[in-house]
Amino acid sequence: MENILMKNLTQIDAVQRLLKARALNLETAREVLTNPEEILIKIQNFELAQSMFKSPFALPDESVDGLIRFAFTENNFPVGFELPECHTLLAGQTGCGKSTLLRIIFDQALMLNKINNNESPFMDEIVCWLFVKAPDMRSLLETEENILIVNFQNIKLNPLEPPPGMNVMEWTNVFADFWIQAFGLYEASKGFLIECLENLYSKYSTLGYYPSLFDLYYYVRAMKFTAISRTARYQESVLNRLGGLLKSSLASIFDCSRGHVNNLINQHTIFEIPFLATEQQVFIVNYLVSYLFCFKLINENALRHFVGIDDSNTIFDSSFEKRPDMGLPIIHQLLSTIRKSKINVFACTQTPHQIGAALHSNAFAKIMFSLSNGKDIDFMQQGMGIKEPEQQAYCFKLKPREAVIRFASRFQEPFVINIPEVDL
Ligand SMILES: Nc1ncnc2c1ncn2[C@@H]1O[C@H](COP(=O)(O)OP(=O)(O)O)[C@@H](O)[C@H]1O
Ligand SMILES: [Mg+2]
Repeated sequence: MENILMKNLTQIDAVQRLLKARALNLETAREVLTNPEEILIKIQNFELAQSMFKSPFALPDESVDGLIRFAFTENNFPVGFELPECHTLLAGQTGCGKSTLLRIIFDQALMLNKINNNESPFMDEIVCWLFVKAPDMRSLLETEENILIVNFQNIKLNPLEPPPGMNVMEWTNVFADFWIQAFGLYEASKGFLIECLENLYSKYSTLGYYPSLFDLYYYVRAMKFTAISRTARYQESVLNRLGGLLKSSLASIFDCSRGHVNNLINQHTIFEIPFLATEQQVFIVNYLVSYLFCFKLINENALRHFVGIDDSNTIFDSSFEKRPDMGLPIIHQLLSTIRKSKINVFACTQTPHQIGAALHSNAFAKIMFSLSNGKDIDFMQQGMGIKEPEQQAYCFKLKPREAVIRFASRFQEPFVINIPEVDL
């Protein structure tokens, strides 16, 4: 009787361990029935061997899987996001595979779109927007040929044109916000800019079209103040920034009253911004993302947007948040309210410690690849709750295509993932 009980207990133990190792199959089940002691020893040896090669991080369960799959856990479970799970931060040194992972995620989104059945859809239709510096994202065209590549020569944009349905007063504030964030102007100049814009908009209201940045420039230039007045200095700083932008390589794209951005809302687009100066990048990306956000806030839109920003330090730099005179950066507001408007932001960075709190505190998933700067590693470890000394030490020796990830819900402990090797 006791023997039978012992045998049963051994069998249960063996089955549980086999399940955990995902090795329960016909053959092992037969062995459990016929020879439980022997198979238990085999499993224990296997577990011992595995623990010698395994990282010091927890092994997750199936709960880490999701619709948009992009990696595998150490114990070979697929890892993925669900669509309502918002933003993702991808941190790692150059060459560690951030852009490749971004491409895998967007590739998955585009592929799922294709099999999403219009009559009984299993997910929101996704529109992909990517801001990149190198042309390597163009390989996504192999998955979806209907992607527009914008290289800022073949497009017209009028940042003074509000999204449909938004009144010019509201857009004036949004514009002033991303304008000062890009060009680092102070609150007083912002007030001056807003005043100029209000006057300009009311002047144009009878004409039936919106003023362009050129119109704003000429309007501000024509204003007369005494040279020693404070307003003259605000005028000068606004003119400086505007003049710089309108004499840059971007000038011709702003020479319009109605831009193309409204047509891009439903369009997969890769914005290639390699040759733009930093403040131009900040301006353009903030403008486009703010436009998208405001558009979706006002207009019924069933689409979900995936916005990937390959080198996001210029956009989410923490110094933007540290300047109280500039108020809360628009992008911070966007990140914390974006969930409702179905926009998912995927942001890559080489220097996570310089990324503002907006992204860190609103990211559903934080992914840490190999990082060379100790300060960045410390920063990520704190944000991801990596406290065990062995786990901390492991972060310094991450292999290629290996990363530590932490989800904000479902499975909340950090764990190791392996990114599949892809053909580039
Ligand atoms: N998942 C992957 N599969 C195959 N090669 C990869 C993968 N991830 C990275 N690589 C290799 O590493 C190189 C750099 O990757 P990349 O994604 O550009 O890094 P990062 O954007 O972090 O600088 C790629 O050109 C490729 O050769
Ligand atoms: Mg890259």
